[in-house]
Amino acid sequence: MKFFVDTAEIDAIAELNDLGMVDGVTTNPSLIKKSGRDIIEVTKEICDLVDGPVSAEVTATDAETMIAEGRKLVQIADNIAVKVPLTWDGLKACKALSDDGHMVNVTLCFSVNQAILAAKAGATFISPFIGRLDDINLDGMDLIADIRQVYDNYGFETEILAASIRSVNHIADSARIGADVITAPPAVIKAMVNHVLTDKGLDAFLADIKAAGIKIL
Ligand code: G3P
Repeated sequence: MKFFVDTAEIDAIAELNDLGMVDGVTTNPSLIKKSGRDIIEVTKEICDLVDGPVSAEVTATDAETMIAEGRKLVQIADNIAVKVPLTWDGLKACKALSDDGHMVNVTLCFSVNQAILAAKAGATFISPFIGRLDDINLDGMDLIADIRQVYDNYGFETEILAASIRSVNHIADSARIGADVITAPPAVIKAMVNHVLTDKGLDAFLADIKAAGIKIL
């Protein structure tokens, strides 16, 4: 399973990247806004830091302008994946940009039918939004499982990029189902290390180290 980091915060990406935990980065207009940085400038910095795909999202809603924006974004670096919304115009842009040989991430996917269309249009990645389905009392993981089954039924090569991940359980469940990639905020990735029994066990070891005066250095 590949780990993408869902942020435009350079320091957070760098910390995880130094541990070999970053296979790519995803950004979106909300994350760019949160960073307070210029989209081109911050995206270039991320691409310089990370080897894997870096998703940068278009701002237009018509296919022609999305394609023009995508062609500008891919000039930032070789590892740019152009992110387009799952609309009819977004699918047109996906087809044109993937025909040009560029990586395309089709985002805002909420149904298996949308995922089929994105695969047919040549998407490199499909981004189903788990958390936002959970928000409206649906089960986001069901969508990941459905897309996995349908893509496997027909040998679609589009990678399932589980997005809108809000909890460590979303990551474990995505892994069980067989999502190709997860993208999560740095804090959620770091929270994967936590376990109450690890803390309890370490406290007991530390008490014994102190009681026995165990020293190594
Ligand atoms: O990867 C998409 C993500 O940034 C959206 O997450 O939490 O805003 O639904 P969220």
